[in-house]
Amino acid sequence: MASIALVLAFCFLGFFVPAPSVASPSNNNDFLRCLSTSIPSQLVLTPSSPSFTPLLVSSIRNARLVAPATASPPLCIVTPTNASHVQAIVRCGRRHSVRVRVRSGGHDNEGLSYRSTTPNGEAFAVIDLAKLHAVHVIPHEATAWVETGATTGELYYRVATAAPGLGFPASVCPTVGVGGIISGGGIGLMMRKYGLSADNVLDASMVDAGGNLLANKKAMGDDLFWAIRGGGGGNFGIVLAWKLRLVPVPPKVTFLKVAKTMDQGAVDAVTKWQTLAPVLPDDLSVRVVIQKSQANFQSLYLGNCSTVVATMRSRFPELGVTSADCKEMSWLQYTAYIYFGDAINNKPLEALLLNRSTTLGPFVKNKSDYVKKALTKETWKKIFLWPNGARSGQLILEPHGGIMGRISTAKNPFPHRSSVLYNIQYVELWNGKEAGGNITPNWIGSLYDFMTPYVSKNPRGAYVNYRDLDMGVNKVVDGVTCYETAKVWGERYFGAANFRRLAKIKGKVDATEYFRNEQSVPPLPLK
Ligand code: FDA
Repeated sequence: MASIALVLAFCFLGFFVPAPSVASPSNNNDFLRCLSTSIPSQLVLTPSSPSFTPLLVSSIRNARLVAPATASPPLCIVTPTNASHVQAIVRCGRRHSVRVRVRSGGHDNEGLSYRSTTPNGEAFAVIDLAKLHAVHVIPHEATAWVETGATTGELYYRVATAAPGLGFPASVCPTVGVGGIISGGGIGLMMRKYGLSADNVLDASMVDAGGNLLANKKAMGDDLFWAIRGGGGGNFGIVLAWKLRLVPVPPKVTFLKVAKTMDQGAVDAVTKWQTLAPVLPDDLSVRVVIQKSQANFQSLYLGNCSTVVATMRSRFPELGVTSADCKEMSWLQYTAYIYFGDAINNKPLEALLLNRSTTLGPFVKNKSDYVKKALTKETWKKIFLWPNGARSGQLILEPHGGIMGRISTAKNPFPHRSSVLYNIQYVELWNGKEAGGNITPNWIGSLYDFMTPYVSKNPRGAYVNYRDLDMGVNKVVDGVTCYETAKVWGERYFGAANFRRLAKIKGKVDATEYFRNEQSVPPLPLK
């Protein structure tokens, strides 16, 4: 009881400016009228428009996030075509107390870029950035400016075609948006060599919580520029474009794939992989996808097949790698192949990588962990055999080490650096026909509980881009978000020091929390 009182007292005392009040229907109409004075009407869709629902679901892949019981639709969706439209939306929103949610690729694991989890909660508008997707490559500088409505597939394609020999470290899935992934870090198969996507941001432009255009990092100041490179999307403003450092890639890279069932030694192989993968050469990344008691080793080597086969045979003989397990291809082909597999043989790369339309898949729930001490063979055996009933459970293990272990935890808000062996993403998929879709995941929760003693602790780490609302949602007391409540997941995503710094920056740049969602960073007053 005493601790609850303390938390509430902290929540009341911790802030200095009241947040905007909840919008009323008249505010909503005034907001829409305000938009109509500065934005062409065809760029503002309300639920009465036949195009509204198709646009709303256009980038949603996860059926769990469109189930009526869990969705609260936006007041309108605006599709800006320039920075002044984005500024106008924020200014109208502030004036009439309508918050916004911003969507780039729409892959947020809890759908926070386009839905509110509170049925009949406060009105909000969605800014869908899909029309702002230009990529301007500057080959002689090895840099590129990319607008945040672009997907990573589009970024890869434009970079590799304008500047062969250059690439960019980001996601395996090419429909992820550069707005969200870079805001939260960005892990992928080149991170051991070149770091996170966010580690390779040189500059940015954004619209702040006052609707001002901050054209570069100088206009933002060091703190805000630090916060947007890994502090999570939807917190500090709307990033319009990133300036990226492009990285060298050889003319041919190698894709290598080996599958092992339990009978073929999968458990031993994964047990060894845990400490081997983080110390392999930086230009070799070997991830593991475990599904149906089978381990699928997939790798990227920034070099040729014969070298990687020799390395794997000497360092990881248990996999029994032969040259038949690998394929050489260009880096651009690789970005498509790792995701689409042999389908790339029949289709032009632009058709695969520039196609941002997604199909609504099954119901999905994700969680994440970081492992700092290798699990025993006995523990892995239990994990491989974890019962999942009719559901499908998948574990994706991404190795750290390499340059990730040499970057300080304070360089940007992403804290999972030197002591980490690998990241685990838990993915549970189900078809939703059971109980009309209103069922809760079961495999993921019990396995996640079982893993508690084996993963990082104090706090148990999690990756902000694998957002998980099971860790909690913000509590708003007297119009302000409680820092003590938010710490529960904030420190898990960012570490204690980085989370505190993020909250202080929030207190400086968005004290009244115009940008607020279920897990947004709360503002702390500057002392
Ligand atoms: P979305 O548009 O939903 O945005 C996510 C968050 O960022 C929201 O809070 C949103 O408001 C905010 N945001 C979006 N644009 C913004 C902008 N311009 N300015 C400020 N805030 C903005 N991750 C990874 O690191 N490596 C990987 O390989 C993958 N692979 C992957 C595959 C699949 C199928 C999924 C569903 C997800 C991943 N992810 C991932 C996770 C992914 O990085 C994470 O979900 C990102 O937030 C998605 O970014 P989007 O722009 O697509 O999402």
